[in-house]
Amino acid sequence: MKYKVLLIGSGGREHALAWAISKSPKLEKLYIAPGNPGTAACGENVDLNTSDFEVVWEFIQENHINLTVVGPEQPLVDGIANFLETKGHLVFGPKLQAAMLEGSKEFAKEFMQRHNIPTAAYRVFDQDNFDGAAEYIKEQNKYPVVLKADGLAGGKGVFIPESEAEAMEVLDELRNNDSLKDAASRLVIEEFMVGEEASVFAISDGDSWKVIGNAQDHKRIGEGDTGLNTGGMGAYSPAPVVTDEILRRVEEEIIEPTISGMREEGNPYAGILYCGLMITAEGPKVVEYNCRFGDPECQVILPRMKTDLLDVIIACTHGKLGKTEIQFDDDVRCTVVLASGGYPESYEKGKEITGLDEVENAIVFHAGTKEVDGKIYTNGGRVLNIVGSGSDLKSAIENTYAEVKKVHFEKAYYRNDIGAKGLEH
Ligand code: AMP
Ligand code: GLY
Repeated sequence: MKYKVLLIGSGGREHALAWAISKSPKLEKLYIAPGNPGTAACGENVDLNTSDFEVVWEFIQENHINLTVVGPEQPLVDGIANFLETKGHLVFGPKLQAAMLEGSKEFAKEFMQRHNIPTAAYRVFDQDNFDGAAEYIKEQNKYPVVLKADGLAGGKGVFIPESEAEAMEVLDELRNNDSLKDAASRLVIEEFMVGEEASVFAISDGDSWKVIGNAQDHKRIGEGDTGLNTGGMGAYSPAPVVTDEILRRVEEEIIEPTISGMREEGNPYAGILYCGLMITAEGPKVVEYNCRFGDPECQVILPRMKTDLLDVIIACTHGKLGKTEIQFDDDVRCTVVLASGGYPESYEKGKEITGLDEVENAIVFHAGTKEVDGKIYTNGGRVLNIVGSGSDLKSAIENTYAEVKKVHFEKAYYRNDIGAKGLEH
């Protein structure tokens, strides 16, 4: 049977997903809602209001779509998988009860505590008890300390104050900042974990699971991991910090108890499980779970996959992942994000992008771009992902930057040190 697939999302992650799905011999037609100029080359972009699930369902029926793949977290946390499954439609992505592993940090922490999954020690406070939170921070008197808004905050809900004075400022900010008030109706205070960050990605049908890769993201805007947090400025896969021994421990101590714990609690986790980890002196610990692929991590993981992604997704939605073999190539992938100067704060849009035709030895995944009369313009903070490969990390980095230098737009910004930490291993 051939599949008509609807992919939801518009970022670099979704271009990578569209690129991988479009190569499948099992694909009849791919729609991407809303997509971007890059995904337009992999299928048909459709302008749907994907936050209105009735609208999505109507489109699915009209176009005889067999399977929906959800890229970003928001529709999952809003219950798109529950809604479409009730209609008898196949969806790849966890239901909202499972997506709560990302949707609520408190839910995730309590779940990890119940199942002895290694993570930072924590306490949770209600917004009307920020005085209690302040007292707790003063009592602990250990800095840095980590303060997290419980709900989805688009990556802007985590604060790591270095002193009591700074921590009190953050509490004030959380109390008064309108854009964070909802997400911060509950506040998680965590012990600061020391180590190197990495992420391991698993795919699960709710019962069986398989690791589909690991990567290291670069979340800060500035070189040497300085400055503001962003959605991610670059990544590489695999990450040497995830040694065979670390991976074995992540599988045994984190992924297996997470999937079996969710199943036992009646909320089977089917979809991509993103384990954001701190590799500490005592071993790997969970920083956060995400209920979807990372962006830009997806852009370096999927190009390594030799097995047909659509085949794997179909097996997953039918509960048959256990019988599926997933293979990867041995090359290392590196991606550098080209961003609009000023991101993650204010930036300009509408700058013409040139040089894309000259990129030969890399894949270009679009994110914040726009096409007008055959020309491509910037249309967001993170604009493009250039993905290069090599037989080792050093050559993957060199090959990627050689291609990055061919692409130009006014006030383009990228980090020059993507992968540098990996070379230290
Ligand atoms: P999160 O949104 O939970 O991933 O947090 C954003 C970033 O804050 C992470 O990528 C880490 O760099 C940092 N972070 C979060 N929690 C901790 C922790 N408990 N210890 C150290 N760093 C943390
Ligand atoms: N790159 C981090 C994330 O996707 O959450």
